[in-house]
Amino acid sequence: MEERKWKAIEPTEVKNTIELFDEGWMALAAGNEKKFNAMTVSWGQMGELWGKRIVTVYVRDSRYTKEFMDSNEHFTLSAFPVAYKKALGYIGSHSGRDGEKYTPVDLHPEFTALGNPTFKEACLCIECKTIYKYRINNVDDLDESIRKWYEDGDMHTVYVGEIVNVMER
Ligand SMILES: Cc1cc2nc3c(=O)[nH]c(=O)nc-3n(C[C@H](O)[C@H](O)[C@H](O)COP(=O)(O)O)c2cc1C
Repeated sequence: MEERKWKAIEPTEVKNTIELFDEGWMALAAGNEKKFNAMTVSWGQMGELWGKRIVTVYVRDSRYTKEFMDSNEHFTLSAFPVAYKKALGYIGSHSGRDGEKYTPVDLHPEFTALGNPTFKEACLCIECKTIYKYRINNVDDLDESIRKWYEDGDMHTVYVGEIVNVMER
């Protein structure tokens, strides 16, 4: 595959961030060249917190990716051209626990200068350092309208990532 070069951009240059998550979907990945995992996410935000530019993502207990989020300092969010939506559907419905899930959908891992995973097919990569995480423990704290999301007890951990690099191509 032809090597396409990344270009660094500012976090503020990422436009339509609601659509980027909600409609475009992204691959959330953590790990290193030896061992990494990625899954699709559509819940997340980009903004400002504690005087930093941040991204927030939500990962359920059951996700294999969670182990990588917890054992690595960094994570990445990668966005893809629309043609890869089916591939994102696949890595968002198969677990890395059950085997390598990128080859079947023609996704090829690539690693940033910091050694974090993204994909050769990605057109945007947001690289973050986890600065805070908390598990949603108490369903009673949630508005009644959203308790339905946790009926099975598979809770989300919220990861707040300080944006350290944004790249596009
Ligand atoms: C469009 C889409 C959005 C998703 N968003 C999330 C999310 O925000 N958080 C989450 O925990 N799982 C989300 N998932 C589910 C995970 O991607 C899915 O369970 C995946 O197979 C987990 O893979 P893993 O076990 O290899 O980590 C989403 C799936 C799809 C298809």
